[in-house]
Order: sequence, then structure tokens, then C-alpha cells
Amino acid sequence: MKGNNPIVLAGGTGDLGGRIATALGRRQVAFRALVRPGTSTAMRASLETAGAAVVETDYDDADALRSACAGASCVVSALNGLQPVMIGMQGKLLDAAVAAGVSRFIPSDYSLDFTKTRPGDNRNLDVRRMFMARIDAAPIRATSVLNGAFANLLTGQAPIVLRKRRRILYWGSADQQLDFTSKDDVADYVAEVAQDESAPRFLRISGAVVSPRQLASIMTELAGERFGLWRAGGIGLLSMVIRVACAVTPRSDAVFPVWQGMQYLRDMSSGRGKLESLDNDRYGPRTWTTARDILAPSA
Ligand SMILES: NC(=O)c1ccc[n+]([C@@H]2O[C@H](COP(=O)([O-])OP(=O)(O)OC[C@H]3O[C@@H](n4cnc5c(N)ncnc54)[C@H](OP(=O)(O)O)[C@@H]3O)[C@@H](O)[C@H]2O)c1
Repeated sequence: MKGNNPIVLAGGTGDLGGRIATALGRRQVAFRALVRPGTSTAMRASLETAGAAVVETDYDDADALRSACAGASCVVSALNGLQPVMIGMQGKLLDAAVAAGVSRFIPSDYSLDFTKTRPGDNRNLDVRRMFMARIDAAPIRATSVLNGAFANLLTGQAPIVLRKRRRILYWGSADQQLDFTSKDDVADYVAEVAQDESAPRFLRISGAVVSPRQLASIMTELAGERFGLWRAGGIGLLSMVIRVACAVTPRSDAVFPVWQGMQYLRDMSSGRGKLESLDNDRYGPRTWTTARDILAPSA
């Protein structure tokens, strides 16, 4: 195992967190995966198989959380939730890391560039901004990994690639570049950042930088049939649709309600959240999953 001081991973039972565990294990990096009481035996076993020392911790027990972080070189958070998790639980994790003398922390950001977007425009990014203020005031070095949207958005429910209608739906400009990175590429990169003692405050990565027009041409090529562009409207109209969607959606604790996805799309389509000066090659050249890779299998 590499490294005298292990890395601590929080949120390893989650989608991205599980992939970070696999990426750390593949690199033979010693790491502890913090799991909450009640985590299934199967989930613990899968983290152990990835190479983790599984540590059961109650986030409300400050002493236990501090000892779980003791001796670590970096705490990596892949927690997911709203304020109670991203500020509350992640805040407790941060306090524990500081109390244990850990020098580095990677917050669960993994998003478009929220340092450039407008407060109030995107609920989930506002929460990240709140945590940023908190961590920047703490005696610990933070590195946020910003990766645009997870690339599975291109094949999932997000209304971008409309296969049946042979259209790429977009808002604003057909030439606006959008950032997509596969979850595995993000996880792989985070495993490098976790070991990088000189990592800066922000690292920006994007596996696929692609505009709606380029998506249409990729899909035309892959499907062997013309995919056209379909402009839903301008950014102003999208904002109006978001306001209506927010007004008619019952309040819930969902992390990604439809209107939140639309807020995310607005930050991408307006270019406000675009990642500039990418750090893709910081750890040497690597093969990134492209938009074509993502779209090809089911085209
Ligand atoms: N850029 C994008 O397009 C994009 C898309 C999706 C997600 N993300 C981001 O990626 C990160 C990870 O998301 P994910 O989809 O991997 O999340 P996920 O699968 O929902 O996993 C969330 C993790 O958080 C833990 N968790 C939830 N509530 C908790 C609490 N109260 N206390 C402690 N742990 C708690 C879960 O643990 P348990 O299993 O114990 O509940 C789980 O390990 C988040 O920052 C998310 O916003 C980005």
C-alpha cells in the first residue's frame, strides 16, 4: 500500500464515492471508508473488496469522527444531500478533520464552476458556496474538483439528446460549449488529487467539451441519420420555465428535483458555469471519456 498516512473517504457507499474507492484501491492507496451505523454488510464488503479499511462512525459523535480522521493525509468527501448533509454532516466532518490535524480536505463539490455563477440561481450551488465560505475560514487546505455535469446526463433523462425525435434540444446558443465528465473519470482524477500535496484550491476538468451543434453532428454520424437542432428558447424563457416549475412543484427533500436540473442546465447553457483553463493534464495525459464514447453504445 502506498502512503504512510491513509486517505479518509466519506460517502463511499454512494455512486461517486464507490467509484473513488475503486480508483484509490486500483492505485494501491491506503484508505479508510467512513460508513454510518446501519450500513449493509454487502456495502461494507464491497468497500473492503475495493481495498478500504471500513470504519463505522456516527457523524453526531465528534470524538469518534475525529479518531476516524486521525493520522489521515486528506479527507475526501463524496456526501450528497441538501443543507443538513452538505453543511451539517460535511461540516462535522470538516471540524473532525481540523481537530485531528488533517492538512487537506476535498469537499463534495464535483459540479460546474460555481465560483462564477450567480448566487440565488441554483439551489445546490448556493449550498456549495456556503460550504466554501466555511472551509476557506478553516485551518485546512481545500481542493474542489469542478467537472461540469456528469456525462451520463447525455444518455439519461435530461432533455438534451432526444433520440426518438432525432433532435438536440438546447437553450440559448447552439454553439455554447458545455462540460461533461464521466463519473469514473471524475473518480480517477479525485484519487490523484487526494494524493497531491500541492493541489491548488480549485481543479477544473472536463472529459467532453461539446456544443449542441457538435452533439447533433456526433449523433448524426453515430445514428447514420440526420439529427437536427431544436432551440427551446432563450435563457430568459428558461428562467421563466424554472420559476413556473418551482411554483408548481410540491416542497420536498429531493436533491435533484426537475427544476434543479433546469437550474443546472441554465448555468451550463448561459455559459456562466463554463469551466475555463482545464487542469485535465495535471497528473499526466489520460484518456478521457468523450461525448462520442458516451453516446455510441445505444445510438
Ligand atoms: N455534476 C453532476 O452532474 C453531478 C451529478 C450527480 C451528483 N453530483 C455530485 O456528486 C457528489 C456525490 O453524489 P452521488 O450521486 O455519488 O451521491 P449518492 O450516490 O446519493 O451518495 C451519497 C453519499 O452520501 C451519504 N449520505 C447521505 N446522507 C448522509 C448523511 N446524512 N450523513 C452522512 N452521509 C450521508 C450516503 O451515505 P449512506 O449510503 O449511508 O446514506 C452516500 O454515501 C455530490 O456532491 C453530488 O451533488 C454531481
